[in-house]
Amino acid sequence: MVGCATRLVPVTSPGPSAVSGERAVAEAARRRTFAVISHPDAGKSTLTEALALHARVIQEAGAIHGKAGRKSTVSDWMDIEKARGISISSAALQFGYGPPGREAVVNLVDTPGHADFSEDTYRVLAAVDSAVMLVDAAKGLEPQTMKLFDVCRHRGIPVLTVINKWDRPGLEALQLMDEIRDRTGLEPTPLTWPVGIAGDFRGVLERSTGDFIRFTRTAGGATVAPEERVSPDRALAEEGEPWATAVEESELLEAMGQVHDQDAFLQGRTTPVLFGSAVLNFGVRQLLDTLLALAPPPGPREDGAGAPRRIDAPFSAFVFKIQAGMDSAHRDRLAYVRVCSGVFERGTVVTHAATGKPFATKYAQQVFGRERSTVDLAYPGDVVGLVNATALRVGDSLYVEEPVAFPPIPSFAPEHFAVARGKDSGRYKQFRRGIEQLEQEGVVQVLRSDLRGDQAPVLAAVGPMQFEVAEHRMNGEFGAAITLDRLPYSLARRTTREWVKHLDPQSGVEVLERGDGALLALFADAWRLSRVQRDLPDVVLEPLVAASS
Ligand code: G4P
Repeated sequence: MVGCATRLVPVTSPGPSAVSGERAVAEAARRRTFAVISHPDAGKSTLTEALALHARVIQEAGAIHGKAGRKSTVSDWMDIEKARGISISSAALQFGYGPPGREAVVNLVDTPGHADFSEDTYRVLAAVDSAVMLVDAAKGLEPQTMKLFDVCRHRGIPVLTVINKWDRPGLEALQLMDEIRDRTGLEPTPLTWPVGIAGDFRGVLERSTGDFIRFTRTAGGATVAPEERVSPDRALAEEGEPWATAVEESELLEAMGQVHDQDAFLQGRTTPVLFGSAVLNFGVRQLLDTLLALAPPPGPREDGAGAPRRIDAPFSAFVFKIQAGMDSAHRDRLAYVRVCSGVFERGTVVTHAATGKPFATKYAQQVFGRERSTVDLAYPGDVVGLVNATALRVGDSLYVEEPVAFPPIPSFAPEHFAVARGKDSGRYKQFRRGIEQLEQEGVVQVLRSDLRGDQAPVLAAVGPMQFEVAEHRMNGEFGAAITLDRLPYSLARRTTREWVKHLDPQSGVEVLERGDGALLALFADAWRLSRVQRDLPDVVLEPLVAASS
């Protein structure tokens, strides 16, 4: 099926223009908005593709998954992504799942796949109601998995865990459960248990029924893998030892209290676990069914003052991502918003909470990679791309009738710093515009000081790949090629104006102002920081882990 990348299934049909709050409530109830989080290479792209395959969005696996040398991915968009075979951009894939008439709507919000490029992922997590943590069966929990998991805990996002690559030799299932419990503090509550050790994946024991779900390989995992439900007696007769072991281990889990409890899951105390193989499409149906059964639908969202915005209130949404220059055919600027309440109707003029100005929504799209389709109606939980949204910034709220301002999306502590200078001083205007644009989109944080001047701002990033994106965009999109000189800092702390005069004279310390007015003191390392804290015992130096922007 070469050339047939994806077919986005329109799951929203046009309705009457005055759609009530009741409609918003009903539509929200059948929606599940989630992200797959994982360390690179755990199989996120493969799983995304497998999920879409199960929902029949694509006919054959291999279309989304886009590592270098394969068919191009729908979530890749930039030249450097193509060259590296990684995914930097984020958008949402929407598809229907379930029997006709009772079809649920799944919004899979795509997250970047590279360990370096993590700030974007954190923002995406502001837009989801749950997360699927994908763990490589041979590697267990990896650094990026842990970081992302921390963000989920911080935000109160319930996490489902999928142990992937069970078709390959890996750790023991019980050992993996111990690791999850010990390192995340979450009690794992397996819903399925593997039959056959890692590398000899026969199927899973469905713990709620005790049945064996047998998986059958298809050629290259390219189509939905057939499953057969087998009674425990027959499973014992046909599978023998591996089945007996699975039953024994499942009983052990039960004795240890590792049984699903919906409240504990929603409160972030437990994580339901499934076993699968994304590449063989094993366990993927179970994941979709579990998301529908257990993952929370969109609920009321708290505004900046902590008051909940009801689902049936008039339309409201917030921007969680801004993206420009997605590909040469569409050189525009897209603001991705997550709908929080009411019904989004394309063409409605909404209010931009930050400025109080009207914002026209004539051009609203669903975007996943290069695929775009117009969105006429959207409901709580949905992600909509607003075209030419030059006035919008990450974290901004939009509303109709009843004003609301959702809390700002946290920006994370930068760890990499570089001075940007235009290569051609005659193109200063383009340089300034480009830097401003990248700052607004949150591609990098921009720090300035009188000492360095406007011609040489400091770019700050969570991961160094953000610099590459900035360089690429400045050159290609704004016509202002830059040089980046890395600075020897690795730590930033927030300080206050009265401390600047005390900090500046310290060696190895520099204070700069971020676009949002925050004063950041930069340090070479933790040792330098502790020296300064020792010399200035009262100094204000707040960590930036989740500083609001
Ligand atoms: P990512 O998006 O999380 O970075 O991971 P991705 O899906 O690209 O998968 C990383 C590698 O792991 C790929 O192999 C992929 O085929 C493989 N993989 C994903 N899921 C499974 C699974 O369930 N079982 C096995 N055995 N492998 C899996 P690769 O070597 O990069 O490419 P290729 O082998 O597909 O050519």
